[in-house]
Amino acid sequence: MKFFVDTAEIAEIAELNDLGMVDGVTTNPSLIMKSGRDILEVTREICDLVSGPVSAEVVATEAEAMIAEGRKLAAIAENIAVKVPLTWDGLKACKVLSDEGRMVNVTLCFSANQALIAAKAGARFISPFIGRLDDINLDGMDLIRDIRVIYDNYGFETEVLAASIRSVNHVLESARIGADVITAPPAVIRKLADHPLTDQGLAQFLKDAAQARITIL
Ligand code: E4P
Repeated sequence: MKFFVDTAEIAEIAELNDLGMVDGVTTNPSLIMKSGRDILEVTREICDLVSGPVSAEVVATEAEAMIAEGRKLAAIAENIAVKVPLTWDGLKACKVLSDEGRMVNVTLCFSANQALIAAKAGARFISPFIGRLDDINLDGMDLIRDIRVIYDNYGFETEVLAASIRSVNHVLESARIGADVITAPPAVIRKLADHPLTDQGLAQFLKDAAQARITIL
């Protein structure tokens, strides 16, 4: 399973990248706003750091303008994945940009039918939003499950990029279902290493090491 990091914070990306945890990066206009940076500048810096796909999102709503923005974003670096929303115009833009050989990430996916039509339009990635479905009392994991089945039924090559991940359980369930990629905030990725029994066990080992005066260096 590939790990994308869902942030535009350079320092956080660099830290996780040094650990080999970053197979790609996803950004969106809200994350860019949070970073306080210019979209083109910060996206270029991210692409300099990370060799995997870096999603940068268009802000136009009409296909022609989305295509123009997508081309400009894609010119930043070879590893840009142009992110377009799952609207009819977004699908038109997806088809044109994909036919030009660019990676397209279709975002804001909330139904399996949306995922099906994005795959038909040539999306390289589909981003179903788990947490935002959970927020309205639906089960975001059901959506990941349905998309996995549908894509496997027909051999679609579009990668299932589980997004809007808010917890380590979202990561675990996505892995069980077979999502190709998860994109998660750095804090969630760090939490994957946590277990209270690890902390407890380590405390005991250190206590015993001190009592036995164990030294290695
Ligand atoms: C995905 O590409 C989005 O940037 C992100 O996962 C959205 O997450 P949120 O619902 O927590 O804002």
